[in-house]
Amino acid sequence: MKRIELIPSESKGKINRNIYGHFSEHIGGVFYDGLWVGEDSEIPNYGGFRKSIVDAMREIKPPVLRWPGGCFAETYDWRDGIGPRDKRPVTLNWWYNNDKRTESNQVGTHEFVRLCRLIGAEPYFAANITSTTPIEIRNWMEYCNAPEKLTSLAAARGDNGDAQPFAVKYWGIGNENWGGGGNMTPEMYARRYIQYATVCNIRFNDEKYIACGANAGDVAWTNRFMAEFRNAAPLYALAFHYYCGSAGDPLKFTEAEWYQMLDKAAVMDSLIKRHRSAMRTYDPDGRIKIIVDEWGCWHPGGSGPSKGYNLFEQQSTVRDAMVTALTLNIFNDHCDIVDMANVAQLCNNLHCLFLAGGDKMTVTPTYHVFKMFKGHQDARHIFCAGEKDGLTISASEKDGKYTITAGNLSYNKTEELKISLFGGKLNGKANVTVLTHEDPHAHNTFDEPDKVHPVTSVIDIGDDTVYTLPPASITLIEIA
Ligand code: AHR
Repeated sequence: MKRIELIPSESKGKINRNIYGHFSEHIGGVFYDGLWVGEDSEIPNYGGFRKSIVDAMREIKPPVLRWPGGCFAETYDWRDGIGPRDKRPVTLNWWYNNDKRTESNQVGTHEFVRLCRLIGAEPYFAANITSTTPIEIRNWMEYCNAPEKLTSLAAARGDNGDAQPFAVKYWGIGNENWGGGGNMTPEMYARRYIQYATVCNIRFNDEKYIACGANAGDVAWTNRFMAEFRNAAPLYALAFHYYCGSAGDPLKFTEAEWYQMLDKAAVMDSLIKRHRSAMRTYDPDGRIKIIVDEWGCWHPGGSGPSKGYNLFEQQSTVRDAMVTALTLNIFNDHCDIVDMANVAQLCNNLHCLFLAGGDKMTVTPTYHVFKMFKGHQDARHIFCAGEKDGLTISASEKDGKYTITAGNLSYNKTEELKISLFGGKLNGKANVTVLTHEDPHAHNTFDEPDKVHPVTSVIDIGDDTVYTLPPASITLIEIA
């Protein structure tokens, strides 16, 4: 039996809802035959976007969606994606060498903002800084955010169907500029960042500029960027990427590989601490936030329904759901510095929430975790003391309701858990939702879309209530 105590007086503050953010890149099958089916498709759609995915997204309250890359962003010309769709150019894109697929530009700025509005998310644009010029990115910002008819670009936006500004708030200046985004040194990138953020600093919508952070644990990147940057331009956050990789086969992993995968995911905690301490040397007041705008498992491709046609597409099992829960709990516990995170990616790719093709769609176990954790969005973080080994757990409070999310990391052992409240009593009714499967390799397919799904029960609780956490399970406890 494990015992946990909630201590409401100890809090890291508000859990920014953007921690529950997403990422959608023009790569493989994320958009084409995934999110986007086209307006003329027989597959039900909202103006071209797959209805089943939009409807499911609305249920998880996605706060923010990053686009158009990833690496794709670094060769993207925003002008290719505006104007009549049948006149848009077909282009080569960053990923062409990997899968020989071209870019039809059917989804461009207007379509993407429409998708964000359909699902209720803020758009977060990643701007190209290696194959364009600062004025072109400033022009994109002006096109998106200038008031109606203020400038010729604002008028052009109106001519293309959207007179009102898109009010895009989040702007990433580059992507992985230590690698696919130009192989820069941190000093080179810092100079490039200052150049772009200075030129692009237009203020229609409290725009927030985000710099490319490190690759995983490369703290030298953080140190050297901060040393060169010296607050020379506006900067909201430094965004690092961490893919925890794979351990064994995505579907047939062993028990040892289950634990290896979770160990790799748990590294996120130390990454945040290490980057934070490097940043604090130069930013002692903690003004600059951390964003993790790509995270997730990266298994070998080919296990998804397209059988390898969609680049990087992979299935997600209960193990991937556990990585999701573990990572989101870590973000909750660092909500004083982590302001946003974007799981990579939304559909038909790495660590995705949806698999889709033709008229078929299934949600993955990872989707269910995002749905179960949504009560943490904008809630007040609460410290959980006690015996947490073998578990991942975090708690928050909002509108008089406690949300506790607990994962039993054991492959085959049930855990029992008692939860108490420091300085108070827990009683009344609780909703208890459990996501698990007797086989940790279980996953959803087009034929069995509900194989892994959460089950909710309502129970009477008190301080002596014992919660049973099955092996390889994620439990949401909501106490009003
Ligand atoms: O998510 C796939 C790719 O992974 C992204 O384009 C890139 O930023 C990262 O390396």
